[in-house]
Amino acid sequence: MKKYITTPIYYVNDKPHIGHAYTTLIADVFARYFRKKYGNENVFFLTGTDEHGSKVAKAAIDHNLSPQVYADLISNEYRIAWEQLNISYDEFFRTTDSRHAEIVQNFLQDLYNKGYIYKDKYKGLYCIGCEKFLSHNETNNGICVYHPNIILVEQEEDNYFFKLKEFSNTILDFIQNKKYLILPREKENEMVGKINNGVNNISISRPGVDWGIPLPWDSGHTVYVWVDALLNYYSATKIYLNKDTFWPPSLQIMAKDILWFHSVIWEGLLIANNLELPKVILAHGFFTIDGQKMSKSLGNVIIPQFLVNEYGCDGARYLILTSTTLNGDGDISLLKMKEKYNSDLANGLGNLIARITKLCEKMTTNSIFLNTVEKNDDLNIELLIEEYRPDEAIKKIWDYIRELDREISVDRPWDLLGKQLDKKLEIYIKKMLIIGLSLEPFLPMTSINIINIFNKKNITKPISFFLRK
Ligand code: MSP
Repeated sequence: MKKYITTPIYYVNDKPHIGHAYTTLIADVFARYFRKKYGNENVFFLTGTDEHGSKVAKAAIDHNLSPQVYADLISNEYRIAWEQLNISYDEFFRTTDSRHAEIVQNFLQDLYNKGYIYKDKYKGLYCIGCEKFLSHNETNNGICVYHPNIILVEQEEDNYFFKLKEFSNTILDFIQNKKYLILPREKENEMVGKINNGVNNISISRPGVDWGIPLPWDSGHTVYVWVDALLNYYSATKIYLNKDTFWPPSLQIMAKDILWFHSVIWEGLLIANNLELPKVILAHGFFTIDGQKMSKSLGNVIIPQFLVNEYGCDGARYLILTSTTLNGDGDISLLKMKEKYNSDLANGLGNLIARITKLCEKMTTNSIFLNTVEKNDDLNIELLIEEYRPDEAIKKIWDYIRELDREISVDRPWDLLGKQLDKKLEIYIKKMLIIGLSLEPFLPMTSINIINIFNKKNITKPISFFLRK
């Protein structure tokens, strides 16, 4: 079984924040889980950066740099952030890769030759934050709901359009017949509702935006940044060695802000060019701060590096992954994160490891249990991950950790000696190994540490990890 997992490619107008890290971490959890299940060679995990368009060009000008130099700089910031968070991506895509330009041009030329593209005038409000024209019902009294501080500009220009409308019935039919899944279910309903309200053809080019890929049949236009960006998922399978067998994507993850692009427009483009559709489109909610979406343009961001410096890589992974449920929005704050770190990691898992290993120092005999545990996993989070609920899975691990903590308090093993103590400790060791194994996709280093600590004779108390803050 091949698994191709993608994140959105992020705009390089500014540095990564923990909203981007959330999506990327969720993808990393799936990639790690599937690698273990199907083997490394059967998983392709793609992330990257979206580098063309007016938003990036403007940011470069604001920094007195050329768009390419600026894109190089910020793209690298993403790589660094993902390294700090131990993200196991296989390839890092950049839309300024020259190999991509050729694939995009060929793709669009094919659509043009098939008669699916035409030229027309576009008049409307353009949001540079979203990089799209907004219809009036997409605005709140003329203000973009995602970028309330950006002034929308009325623009009228010649655009080439893709006849998305022609494909709307096919798309609807595919969604309803589960040819591809849009998850969670409420989001699927929302997309179906939106299609039923009417689908507009979409602009695929812009005149006067120099920072982009020229249209092959009209060099006065560059490819609209969203079309350029969506095609990265396809290009990647052509550009990188031995990746063409991974098409179509198995799981594409993003937040709800760009779900329409990923669950309708993207499919329209693929259907028009007779390409297979992705299997699952998974949309999550937003991190909000005081109820507002955390975003670069609003300036209310928390950067991953801050959390890594403060809480270590796995500490940061845990805090980001558990800050919100997958389906809802999560209002977050640094204070809440600190409290969570102390309760779940320092006093929770960290303390549990210290408690059990200290008792183990009094053990008389002790065997190695990892093999028996692997076949006997009573935590069983696989089902939740397979149902695309990694948030529920990690929660279940922590329920199990708390339960084990309670069990020890009830057992009072410190009152026991000899064989009786050994017996109790065997139970705890096995449970710790189950925790260690289950944590692998979420907190990979902690998982290895736990297994190393408990999968040996003569278990001793390690130097504490997850120190209290
Ligand atoms: N470049 C486009 C995507 C093109 S993909 C073909 C883009 N980039 S972005 O930098 O704005 O990233 C948007 C994505 O980043 C969201 O869909 C989500 O995955 C993540 N997030 C950005 N802010 C977020 C929050 N505040 N909360 C959760 N996720 C967030 O759109």
